Amino acid sequence: MNRLTDCIIHKKSSGIPVWFMRQAGRYLPEFREIRKNNLNFIKLCLSSDLVKDITIQPLKRFDLDAVIIFSDILMIPYGLGQEVEFKKGYGPALGKIDLERIINTNSEDFIKKINPVYEGIKKVKKEIKDKSIIGFVGAPWTLLLYMINRQSPKKNFSFNEINKNKSLINKLLKKIETTICLHIEKQIEAGANVIQIFDSWAGLLPEKELKNYCYTPTLRIVDHVKSLNIPVICFPKGIGKNYIDFNSTVKPDCISIDYEVDPKWIKEKLKGTPIQGGLDPKILLTDKENIKKNTEHYIKIFSDYPYVFNLGHGVLPETKPETIEYLIQIIRNKG
Ligand code: CP3
Repeated sequence: MNRLTDCIIHKKSSGIPVWFMRQAGRYLPEFREIRKNNLNFIKLCLSSDLVKDITIQPLKRFDLDAVIIFSDILMIPYGLGQEVEFKKGYGPALGKIDLERIINTNSEDFIKKINPVYEGIKKVKKEIKDKSIIGFVGAPWTLLLYMINRQSPKKNFSFNEINKNKSLINKLLKKIETTICLHIEKQIEAGANVIQIFDSWAGLLPEKELKNYCYTPTLRIVDHVKSLNIPVICFPKGIGKNYIDFNSTVKPDCISIDYEVDPKWIKEKLKGTPIQGGLDPKILLTDKENIKKNTEHYIKIFSDYPYVFNLGHGVLPETKPETIEYLIQIIRNKG
């Protein structure tokens, strides 16, 4: 047992666990050093030794309760045979959908293509004993969106455009769901002992579509993780007051909130489901006093509630590593 599982499985409210989304990433000079020599991001995610090294990098600096495996949610489309590239200053660029090819990719093909991800997890497991190892997946909707939109929806997005071809969507969603379950199983088999599901773009769904594209497919994934006896954290980013419906329908072991959610309000409404995150990552770009004030705000509200300290989204590349150090110091003194 450790602080994270004490909180999300046993619902303890003392000794606040802490980890950060994107804790391994571009704000760390040691990551940028490796990245400089590995310009192909997918290839980097398929180098099991580097996956291990990058995953562990933040632990070497900070007193964290968990590592999150260095990988990407887009390894699923890649493993299904869709081209995925990360272009500098542009973000992910995906190839055209070849539905035949995707549907015909069986479990063995998929596993073979991204096996180094699992090898990387095994290597992490060998080095880490007392901390949680978080594996992750993109939620069905967020993956469907990237696969059809072929680029970040920040650049170009229309729900009606995505929703047009029902037959394509239904076939694709089904394949995505089974592949997510497979990817989760393989991560657990390799050593992951907590799973987080990122629905980064749930907030783009029209409210009346949330059930169909977010709650129902996510519930199937959550039930699958639970059947494997592993705790699952859900992050349906940007759905505002619908966090409550999400929680009562999907019933994750822990729910991760974004920076737009009022922490007092959600604590009242959720009545016991462990909560993670919330602090706006942009706060970490401001001065120490402001960081302290905002951090203590979350800690105070959740002092009598099972709470995992994290941010309301990933650590921004502009964040100073010393700021993360400072933040952890505040949390450890108060927890
Ligand atoms: O430390 C960690 O959190 C683990 C590693 C991790 C990455 N991506 C590494 C990464 C995780 C958990 C992800 C998840 C991910 N990937 C999400 C869900 C979380 C979120 O941020 O909403 C999404 C939407 C993606 C897709 C993705 N990957 C985008 C849009 C981009 C480019 C823009 C960006 O934010 O960097 C990536 C690339 C990526 N994934 C990088 C890293 C460290 C940056 C690569 C680089 O340019 O060096």
